[in-house]
Amino acid sequence: MTKTVKKAVFPVAGLGTRFLPATKASPKEMLPVVDKPLIQYAVEEAVAAGIEVMVFVTGRNKTAISNHFDTAYELEHELEIRGKERLLNVVRGIVPAHVSCVFLRQSMPLGLGHAVLCAQPVIGNEPFAVVLADDLIDDGERGCLKQMVEVFSSTGATILGTQIVDPHETGSYGIVDTEDEGDLVEVKGIVEKPAPELAPSNHGVVGRYILTSAIFQHLAQTGKGAGGEIQLTDGIASLMQEESVMAYAFKGRRYDCGSKLGYLQATVDYALKHEHLGDEFTNWLRERFIR
Ligand code: UTP
Repeated sequence: MTKTVKKAVFPVAGLGTRFLPATKASPKEMLPVVDKPLIQYAVEEAVAAGIEVMVFVTGRNKTAISNHFDTAYELEHELEIRGKERLLNVVRGIVPAHVSCVFLRQSMPLGLGHAVLCAQPVIGNEPFAVVLADDLIDDGERGCLKQMVEVFSSTGATILGTQIVDPHETGSYGIVDTEDEGDLVEVKGIVEKPAPELAPSNHGVVGRYILTSAIFQHLAQTGKGAGGEIQLTDGIASLMQEESVMAYAFKGRRYDCGSKLGYLQATVDYALKHEHLGDEFTNWLRERFIR
């Protein structure tokens, strides 16, 4: 089996109910952090990791995502006429020429596990990444997915991106059971959204995975789990019976942009370090809060 990861799946078919009414007619993944939508940060992280095929699993009301990664001929033409060179390059540079985008539909939002299974015809027998765009991760340099792709190239085992979560918040994550210590540990078990008293650890899985294609046969047999949805966590728990699964505590800060608080925290931090806005925004914050 190859240990090179060239394809990434972006499940973007969720309903985004925590952001209603903003997500009534437009996708959560198109919410901007300063001036870029969440899905573009995710794709840029994948490009930095060497991914060449981006597979979007979309649903109803998600056409804005395919439009975002397509050529906007009229807009480019207008910017050209107006001599807006910098903006023209911004618009043209969203997807590098060597990268292809594939769009699939998940006809019903049956769960993250089901969304990943929908990508099987495009992934085939290769290992692949799964990126949840609402988890925005800033590691300040190479990117979380690149770290994980590098780990995979030496282990060849399924890798779950994890971070230490507040013990009271285990009910919001897949929680891994491990006896090892360190950044890269063997996973003995995994439980979706356990109550704090039932959680096997405080290592929570966040939205980055490198999976082997063996996951598909497990997902195909996975029934409804937590929340009545087909859970990726349950498919991984089943995969663990036949293959080694590792948890990797990536370096970097993760913002849960699926929640309003995490989204606002990301917005402030990214605005503070924005190349054109950072100084002005920092001054404004100072004046506003330090008197
Ligand atoms: P979430 O649990 O965040 O659900 O999904 P959601 O619908 O996006 O948001 P809330 O909780 O209602 O506010 C985790 C990821 O799985 C995708 C989502 O798009 C998100 O990236 N997903 C979830 C699917 O693609 N299909 C599904 O059926 C469910």
